[in-house]
Amino acid sequence: MNSQELWTTVDDYIGSSILGKDPILETTLKVSAEAGLPPFAVSPPQGKFLQLLIQIQGAKNILEIGLLGGYSTIFMARGLPKDGRIVTLELEKKFADVARKNLVHAGVIDRVDIRVGPALDSLSKLADEKPSPFDFVFIDADKQNNPNYFTWALKLSRPGTIIIVDNVVREGRIVEPGNTDPSVIGTRQLNELIARTPNVSATTIQTVGSKGYDGFTLAVVS
Ligand code: DHB
Ligand code: MG
Repeated sequence: MNSQELWTTVDDYIGSSILGKDPILETTLKVSAEAGLPPFAVSPPQGKFLQLLIQIQGAKNILEIGLLGGYSTIFMARGLPKDGRIVTLELEKKFADVARKNLVHAGVIDRVDIRVGPALDSLSKLADEKPSPFDFVFIDADKQNNPNYFTWALKLSRPGTIIIVDNVVREGRIVEPGNTDPSVIGTRQLNELIARTPNVSATTIQTVGSKGYDGFTLAVVS
């Protein structure tokens, strides 16, 4: 068994032992794959981790940047109280339509506000609405815009807001000296931004699992 096979087998074991079978989430992945969405959803243990963080924080208002098929959205919605809300941004109308179907099937659509179009445009419009600050932000869209998304997340935050950024290690490509992939550059710029922002305390955790070797950044606003 190679490393990836082992990581996937362990993720499957975590799924069957701790998380339990979840036909709604399984259907969400199946519907998303059949509709041709890329297989970029978080893994089940990662999704549950987001749900638990939201429960620990007692978050009521969540901002998600990068909806895709709504897989992570379902976990996060499950972490919310009945009157909680998620605003979620998606570039592709086709993906948003698939996600809406999945969120209806999961029984959480009443807690989710889907906005279609370039996320930077949606964020600018959202800010014009002067929303209550978000308690929790999950950034999981095009990686080259990570610094821009993080800047918006800060504008829409309050002291105590948690910001999670997915896919910040990318099999270690983040430390390859000659790497000029825009997603790597975007994430390095994000790290420089975090380092020079005094009211943000953050760390990055490397991860392995069914999604390979990657990592997430956890930031808390003060
Ligand atoms: C990619 C994007 C993701 O959000 C992810 O979790 C994995 C891969 C990608 O664009 O390759
Ligand atoms: Mg991701």
